[in-house]
Amino acid sequence: MEIKTVWSVWFSATGTTQKVVTALSKSLAEQLGAGWQEYSFNLPKAREEDLTFDPGDLVVLGVPVYAGRVPNLILPYVRDRIHGGGALAVPVVLYGNRNFDDGLMELRNVARDNGFCPVSAGAFVGEHSFSKVLGAGRPDGDDMALVQQLADRTAAKVKALTEAPAQAVEVEGCDPIRPYYTPRDRHGEPIRDFLKAKPVTDPAKCVKCGLCARICPMGSIDPQDVSSVVGKCIKCCACVKKCPRGAKYFDHEGYLYHQHELEDQYAGRRAESKIFL
Ligand SMILES: Cc1cc2nc3c(=O)[nH]c(=O)nc-3n(C[C@H](O)[C@H](O)[C@H](O)COP(=O)(O)O)c2cc1C
Ligand code: SF4
Ligand code: SF4
Repeated sequence: MEIKTVWSVWFSATGTTQKVVTALSKSLAEQLGAGWQEYSFNLPKAREEDLTFDPGDLVVLGVPVYAGRVPNLILPYVRDRIHGGGALAVPVVLYGNRNFDDGLMELRNVARDNGFCPVSAGAFVGEHSFSKVLGAGRPDGDDMALVQQLADRTAAKVKALTEAPAQAVEVEGCDPIRPYYTPRDRHGEPIRDFLKAKPVTDPAKCVKCGLCARICPMGSIDPQDVSSVVGKCIKCCACVKKCPRGAKYFDHEGYLYHQHELEDQYAGRRAESKIFL
C-alpha cells in the first residue's frame, strides 16, 4: 500500500510516549518514503480540534497507561475527536513497569471503532510518572531496539499489503475491557482520597517561571499563582518532572503510600516491552 504521510500523534506528560512514538513514526516514514507530521494532544487547546485522516495516512497513536487503561480524562478526545477515515494505525502504549493490563486493547479497539485499521501495535516500558526508580531510564537501548524492530516489521507488512486488512491486529489484554486498576493499601482497601491528591510547590525553590502552568495537560495550574491547582489533577507529573527547579512535589499521604508500594513491588524487576504484528 502507498502511504503518503506517517503521523506521530500522542499524549505524553513526561515524554516517554513521545520518545517511542517519534522514533517509530520517523523510521516508518523513512522506510515507506512518506512525509512525516506530528500532533500532540497534551494541552487542552489541542483537544478542541478534531483530527481526521484518510487512507493515504499511517498514524502512530500513542498514550501512556493510567490505572491499566487509556487515561480516563484523555479517552473522550481519542474516542470522539480522532477520526480514522480508513487510515492504517499503529496503537502504542507506554507503561511504568507494573502492567499495561487492558490499555493497549482499549486503544486498539477505540482506533478500530473510529475507522482506523490497526496493522501493528506495541506496549513499551517508560519510567513511572510517580517515581524515579520504577522503570528508571526506560525506554532504554533494549526498548528502543524493539521500537526499531516494530518499525521494520510494520514497514514490511505495509509494503506487502494490497488493501487495508479487514481484521485489526491481535494484542494482549481483556476484551471486554476490565475496570480501572485501583490503588489499595495492605489490607486491600482503596487508598482514601487518592484522586484528590494535587502537587504542592516549595516557595523557596520556585522562581515563578510559569512553565508548569503552561504545560499542565489539564490547564489546572493558575498562571498568576503557580502554587494553586485550580482544576482537576490527573497526577501525570509533568509539573513535577519538568520543573527546572525541582519545586513541585506531592506530599499527599495516600499518593506517597501508593508510590512506595509500587516501588517496593515492582522496582526490583524488569517488565518487558512487547510488540504485536
Ligand atoms: C495516574 C497514573 C496511573 C498510572 N498507572 C499505571 C499502570 O496502571 N501501570 C503502569 O505500569 N504504569 C502506570 N503509570 C505510569 C505510566 O504509564 C508511565 O510512567 C508512562 O511511561 C508515562 O508516559 P508519559 O511519559 O508519556 O507521560 C501511571 C501513571 C499515572 C500518572
Ligand atoms: S515550573 Fe517550577 S519554578 Fe517554574 S513556576 Fe512552576 S514550580 Fe515554579
Ligand atoms: S497539576 Fe496535576 S495534571 Fe497538572 S501537570 Fe501537575 S500533576 Fe499533571
